[in-house]
Amino acid sequence: MGAASVTVRVPAKVNLQLSVGPLRADGFHELATVFHAVNLCDEVIARPSAGGIRLSVSGEGAEILPLDDANLAHRAATLVAERLGLAPDVELHLNKAIPVAGGMAGGSADAAAALVACDALWRGSLGRDELSVLAAALGSDVPFALQGGTAIGTGRGERLTPVLSRGSFSWVFALADGGLSTPAVYAECDRLREGRSTPEPYVSDMLLQALAAGDPLLLGKALHNDLQSAAISLRASLSDLLEIGDDLGALGGIVSGSGPTCAFLARDGEHALDLAVGLTSTGLCRTVRTATGPVAGARVIG
Ligand code: C5P
Repeated sequence: MGAASVTVRVPAKVNLQLSVGPLRADGFHELATVFHAVNLCDEVIARPSAGGIRLSVSGEGAEILPLDDANLAHRAATLVAERLGLAPDVELHLNKAIPVAGGMAGGSADAAAALVACDALWRGSLGRDELSVLAAALGSDVPFALQGGTAIGTGRGERLTPVLSRGSFSWVFALADGGLSTPAVYAECDRLREGRSTPEPYVSDMLLQALAAGDPLLLGKALHNDLQSAAISLRASLSDLLEIGDDLGALGGIVSGSGPTCAFLARDGEHALDLAVGLTSTGLCRTVRTATGPVAGARVIG
């Protein structure tokens, strides 16, 4: 007999650096990225069910997210059941705070949380290494959502190395109306680069120094995202938002992943609140969220 219910909390991510290399033969781009997990979290609650996988959603994007195997969390439950040789009987509820198609890996986070939740519910004891293999099969960002913290991602983003990072950083995230499609943003990046050779992706020394020293001023200067111009090309208003964040005194501002969420680094929690008020009043974003990072990856909380 399994547990009555399992709740897993999982963080969003922002890429402190996203260096996009050449397009590979498999349709993915070779990356060198620094993932950073922040405490803007989704919760996934798993309960026993008699009739296969039943998915429900509340919060961010509840009205638009698919409830069948087009949802990565659904596919995650199937993978765990297959791996354990069990029938995939589970009720999964996603309580979402991470924006959908926002460049913060919300779908990947839910998949990572569903892996952990189903393994715990079914007493699978698969262990982090085995869950990481299933995570990589689900998507490029899923292994990081499991691991959390701050980590370099290489390959298509699924190969992780933890990064030495001191202290905690304060962030403001400006959430947009509507999302951006990740494949469309990568395709736009390729289009903008047409006719030019693409250097191998790399992580900057300045960024690693800023993290090791816990220096927000230096980190603000080191933030960089190769997908930013592509996201702005598809959503021009992001450029105004980033400029205003700079005028309001953010230490750095960046499009998060493939966007359209923008991330602004603050000096501390109080500065983050001031920035959040300023950004809200611009009318250029749907809403704002403050958060800190790094935080742990997908974890059972109840
Ligand atoms: O791995 P995931 O399913 O999250 O990737 C979604 C899409 O993003 C891919 O189909 C691809 O178009 C693009 N992508 C990419 N290079 C990566 C990661 C994602 O081109 N390293």
